Amino acid sequence: MSDDELAKLTEKIIICESCHLKDSRTQVVPGIYGPKNGLCIIGEAPGYNEDKQGEPFVGRSGKLLDNMLSDIGLERRKDVSILNVVKCRPTTEKKENRTPTNSELKFCGEKWLFKQLKLLSPKLIVTVGSIALRFFIPSAAVTKYVGKSYDTDHGIKLFVTYHPAYILRNYNLMEVYNEHFEDMKKLYVTILNQNGITFKEKPSEQKSLTDFL
Ligand code: URA
Repeated sequence: MSDDELAKLTEKIIICESCHLKDSRTQVVPGIYGPKNGLCIIGEAPGYNEDKQGEPFVGRSGKLLDNMLSDIGLERRKDVSILNVVKCRPTTEKKENRTPTNSELKFCGEKWLFKQLKLLSPKLIVTVGSIALRFFIPSAAVTKYVGKSYDTDHGIKLFVTYHPAYILRNYNLMEVYNEHFEDMKKLYVTILNQNGITFKEKPSEQKSLTDFL
């Protein structure tokens, strides 16, 4: 999805040089946009692959995320926006991926993510992993919050689940992860219904929510 304001905002994001992460990135990864008033998945920051390709979640964890979405009838970009709190790849001195610091999260999230969310106006935000969750609820421990939904100060429902990279390292949680995605879909459909949009299940391989938005 692209509208003028969002396109203009994205143009500003991709030339941002407001913090030191401009030195560790190859390019800014602004995120990909699905329908407005829809579903938005939020991760922490681009890694090596995302930095090379300019799109969030394109490595192994992205593949798992795409599979999880496909299992519940959703597709990146067509049905779902995917954003990171931090738009540039943070690296260690050895040029390896690293977790963004709290100040990087706060700075980039407040500078860009909030503006993207204001324009996208999602009905449901899904944070994947503890870092993205921490940006929205600083005191939250992901282990206590996973699999549940919360009301944010911004009036948007938030559903919390694990980062796909964590599931790749802890494959025993795969069943729980499937349940989270099923529950997230149920919540999303309920929210759509509350907004007067009816969800009709399509035949399995063609499932998509796009027609109902
Ligand atoms: N992990 C994230 O949190 N975001 C990405 O885009 C890739 C990996």
